[in-house]
Amino acid sequence: MKTYNLCIVGGGSTYTLGFLKSFVRLRDEFPIKKLTLFDIDKERQEKIGKYGEILFQERFPQLEFMYTMDKREAYEGMDFVFMQMRAGGLKMRAEDEHIPFRMGLIGQETCGAGGMAYGLRSCADMIQAVHDIRTYAPNAWILNYSNPAAIVAEALRREFPDDQRILNICDQPENVVRSCSRLLGCDWKDLDPVYFGLNHYGWFTHMYDVHTGEDLLPQIRNRIAENGFLPQDAEQRDQSWLDTYGMVQTMMHDFPDYLPNTYNQYYLYPQYKAAHLNPHVTRADEVMAGREKRVFDECEQVIAEGKLGDRFHTISDAHAEMMIQVAESIAYNRNDRHIVIVENNGAIANMQNDAMVEVVCELGMHGPRPMRVGNIPQFYLGLLVNQVSCEKLLVDAYFENSYQKALQAFTLNRLIGDAKKAREVLDALMEANEGMWPKLQ
Ligand code: G6P
Ligand code: MN
Repeated sequence: MKTYNLCIVGGGSTYTLGFLKSFVRLRDEFPIKKLTLFDIDKERQEKIGKYGEILFQERFPQLEFMYTMDKREAYEGMDFVFMQMRAGGLKMRAEDEHIPFRMGLIGQETCGAGGMAYGLRSCADMIQAVHDIRTYAPNAWILNYSNPAAIVAEALRREFPDDQRILNICDQPENVVRSCSRLLGCDWKDLDPVYFGLNHYGWFTHMYDVHTGEDLLPQIRNRIAENGFLPQDAEQRDQSWLDTYGMVQTMMHDFPDYLPNTYNQYYLYPQYKAAHLNPHVTRADEVMAGREKRVFDECEQVIAEGKLGDRFHTISDAHAEMMIQVAESIAYNRNDRHIVIVENNGAIANMQNDAMVEVVCELGMHGPRPMRVGNIPQFYLGLLVNQVSCEKLLVDAYFENSYQKALQAFTLNRLIGDAKKAREVLDALMEANEGMWPKLQ
């Protein structure tokens, strides 16, 4: 079996521990030869790196493992680069969430004003990072799940139009499939979904039983109406995530055609959500007090004790598992089906070709082969055309340093929906992002 070299950009991320453990768990199906962590934050990465050394020494000693802040050392000889950067860190995520709230708007990591602020930061950092990777690893597969993935995907499409080995991915559609399997009491691999949308803004039109071909969506709809909807790993989630999954019931009550991605709650109920989310403690605050603390506490304990022991079992990570299985499908030309982000080119027949859409694809060594969904109904088309316009205008703003384009993007966004508010929140975010955004004029 051919083995591969892999680098994680954003080695100090709170998601990295989940990856390190998953590489051990999946080492028979995807045996990597060399794993390198890269980060610009020495202190964060060092803790995770030292943890990794202890973990692999215990459970995967053949693996060549290292962590570095040197680009050449990180990228040279790599077959896969996983990108999980958070431009501005969790501190700026908190700003993205709090600033809009002060104006009565939803503050959210990837949707609305906060998502666009993050988008302008990510465009700059991601484009630079991909140029760096291409300098040292011209043929590596770049699997990006840095957010906001919709905006990053559009920016990379424009900056690297001929690069066929950049793939943008999000775990949320597959998380929803896994949640359906919990609801139905089956294995999630028994479900064969049909899905269309933009990143963090899509719908399942069918959920077939792989074995019988029966469409289980009507059953799923009934069960959600009766019992609500929970994430597959509900026991490990904060209340805010349970509330988010809970909104699927409301969405399906109002729009019963399809099963929505959980993120649609922000686009469909912007005023309701703005009124009901806690403006004082946002998700970033929860993550810093929760996941971030747990991860770094675990690192410190393991480093102090010099061994992992039972801690190997503390995080079972669906997100890491998906990314690794995407890499596997490409590496071994398996053509497995995954929901990923690709240039539309007819996959959604009545949407523009150059939109970056999220659909089911078969994934092999030549990249994603999208599965067509045909024409989508007017309601969904209207929502998506509005949002794709917003995302494209924001990326125009980035490349053209255009305040006017940014104002148009903010005005179109359904979470803002008013030109005066758009200007107010744009100006506040521009000030908070001084030096991290392009200079908009
Ligand atoms: C899902 C989404 C990611 C997002 C994450 C936020 O996994 O697909 O794009 O970053 O949720 O989760 P958090 O726990 O950080 O709020
Ligand atoms: Mn996502």
